[in-house]
Amino acid sequence: MSSYLKIASESMATKTTKLSERISKLPPYLFAGIEKTVEEKRKQGVEIISFGIGDPDLPAPAEIRERLAVEARDQENHNYSSSKGELEFREAVVGFMDRRFGVSINSSQVCACLGSKEAIANIARAFVNPGDNVICPNPGYPVYAQGATILCDGIPRFIPLLEKNNFLPDLDELENLIDARTRIVYLNYPNNPTSAIASRKFMERLADIFERKNAILAYDNAYSEFTYGDYVAPSILEFTGNAIEFHSLSKTFCMTGDRIGFAVGRKEYVGGLVKVKSQIDSGNPVYTQKAGAFALGLYKGREKPECVKQILREYELRRKVLAAGLKKIGLKVFGSNATFYVWARVPEGSGGDIKFAERCLERGVVATPGSGFGSAGKGYVRFALTQPMKRIIKALGHIERVL
Ligand SMILES: Cc1ncc(COP(=O)(O)O)c(C=O)c1O
Repeated sequence: MSSYLKIASESMATKTTKLSERISKLPPYLFAGIEKTVEEKRKQGVEIISFGIGDPDLPAPAEIRERLAVEARDQENHNYSSSKGELEFREAVVGFMDRRFGVSINSSQVCACLGSKEAIANIARAFVNPGDNVICPNPGYPVYAQGATILCDGIPRFIPLLEKNNFLPDLDELENLIDARTRIVYLNYPNNPTSAIASRKFMERLADIFERKNAILAYDNAYSEFTYGDYVAPSILEFTGNAIEFHSLSKTFCMTGDRIGFAVGRKEYVGGLVKVKSQIDSGNPVYTQKAGAFALGLYKGREKPECVKQILREYELRRKVLAAGLKKIGLKVFGSNATFYVWARVPEGSGGDIKFAERCLERGVVATPGSGFGSAGKGYVRFALTQPMKRIIKALGHIERVL
């Protein structure tokens, strides 16, 4: 080691590096702790069957992968894009929103995103000042309260999603919670983690609140296409233009690793997001956007394209088997026709959701304790349907022994 490097490493050893106060306020990211324990179990030789993180195990449709490969081979697609995305992708979003939801927008109301997660977090950077309130569902996708609110020095205010209300917020309570310091309200249906859906009547009433209130409605529609049977999930933009909505190609087309999604809605809201992103990232890879535009183009109308239907058929079957198996064992499963999550109440006397998840993990089965999504998730567990049927059946046997 050169003497310069030696001196540098010695001085680092005595230096204490403090994280910022806002980072210290963050609870540990839910899945980071679970991943650590899973790793330990793996080392002990335990076979892991993970229903943890919501990452589809099925491949992206072959025609989309092929398009991605073709676009990636083209040298012209390897320069910087722009932070708001290529016009070709944004125009594809305009067409998709029109055909799928009957929502008429233009390309200046669209921003391409590196998956929807960053946009859900970055919208807060554009509109939340230190000490401002942000309303987040409880239980909820942790990014709303943490990556978005706390990392902007905002204050998360939680609205409970209770079983007696089918895991929808009480809209009178929501309206009362919105005060002069409320900048953003995050909502998400079809919902993670509860798998609940919102009726058109609910959406109408929700939209009505935001016609009157100044706060921004940030509607997370990552699971709009993850629905079964006749159920078709709406866009909030069918009911009001006063919102920003987040979409993702991650789940619809099993493209989580390709990091492509979009934000769409009121021009000022999308513009705020673009301002933030232009200081931070330089857009998605052009070849990803081109493949994304191709994927959205597979929607010829409201109906899902065949490749998406095929993915959903598999998840629907898995849902049926896992839900029936869990019910038989004694869990109370929340019935749903959307998302690839099964949300279930653990039986009385099983020690609660954390104990239940720990005991499942002892046998190699990973399920996420509801408490990890907020205090109102206590007593529930979430299973992501990311395991093939054979392993679902094997896992049910393990869970039965836990109880
Ligand atoms: C409710 C919800 N919103 C957004 C996302 C973000 O997905 P992505 O960043 O892959 O688009 C997820 C991912 O699990 C989610 O569950």
